[in-house]
Amino acid sequence: MNAFDNRPIAIFDSGLGGLSVLACALELLPDERFVYLADLANAPYGERPIEEIQALVADDINLLLSHDVKAVVVACNTATAASVAHLRELHPELPIIGMEPAAKVAAEKCGGKCAVLATPATLSLGMFKKLREQLRDQIQIVAVPCPGLSNMIDHDASPEELRDYLYELIDPEDTTFTSLVLGCTHYVLISKLVQSFYPNHSIISGNEGAVRHLANILQERKICAQHLAPEGDNRVQYLCTTADPAILDKMDKVTGFAKQNQVWINAFMPQNK
Ligand code: DGL
Repeated sequence: MNAFDNRPIAIFDSGLGGLSVLACALELLPDERFVYLADLANAPYGERPIEEIQALVADDINLLLSHDVKAVVVACNTATAASVAHLRELHPELPIIGMEPAAKVAAEKCGGKCAVLATPATLSLGMFKKLREQLRDQIQIVAVPCPGLSNMIDHDASPEELRDYLYELIDPEDTTFTSLVLGCTHYVLISKLVQSFYPNHSIISGNEGAVRHLANILQERKICAQHLAPEGDNRVQYLCTTADPAILDKMDKVTGFAKQNQVWINAFMPQNK
């Protein structure tokens, strides 16, 4: 039996936040190919009712499955909290990897009190409440909803705008917090900036943990890709968006991502959305 599977892995998010997960996956899984979907026509998800998020996520998955992918990474804490259990029931054979705010990492590394920055939807759903309960004896978790922040990041808000927004929520002098957990993949895109705003705090994300989990699942199921030919293989096969693909050329995060990762971006708008 062939123990390799060269089909791509799908990574999706409401917008550009999942690019932070894709960047990590490109680095940690050098033999794998990917397709990426940003549902920019419907972003942000984090301020929508759960039923709407679930319907959008179901469309995202159907679209990605039409590309014959071998695994799906829900590179969005909001979509994971709203839908991942249901998705796994619907697609029992498909490896589906979700994201959750990395409060466990904060508990191990820092303890004390952490602020979990995330969308209002993520923080209101059961998955987060369960996580807080599980870690009750290890870390004090303060939920910090950030409405509008992912949208600012998708649309290239300036560092000053981002700093003003965050300083309204958390005072950089407030060292009763040991760490800030970036519980939305969009925020990971600006993690260096966040660290510069909060030099005395540990800034924590769950991206690496999620990609390592993906790697373990690929190995367990024996569906890793074969070693890539050194040239001529485009590791990001498609970058799709539900908005006008021309928007991607104007987004600094996308063009910067393409340049940094030396990928050619094949953007298109899916027909069936
Ligand atoms: N990137 C998404 C997350 O991790 C959500 C952004 C949004 O659509 O509100 O939660």
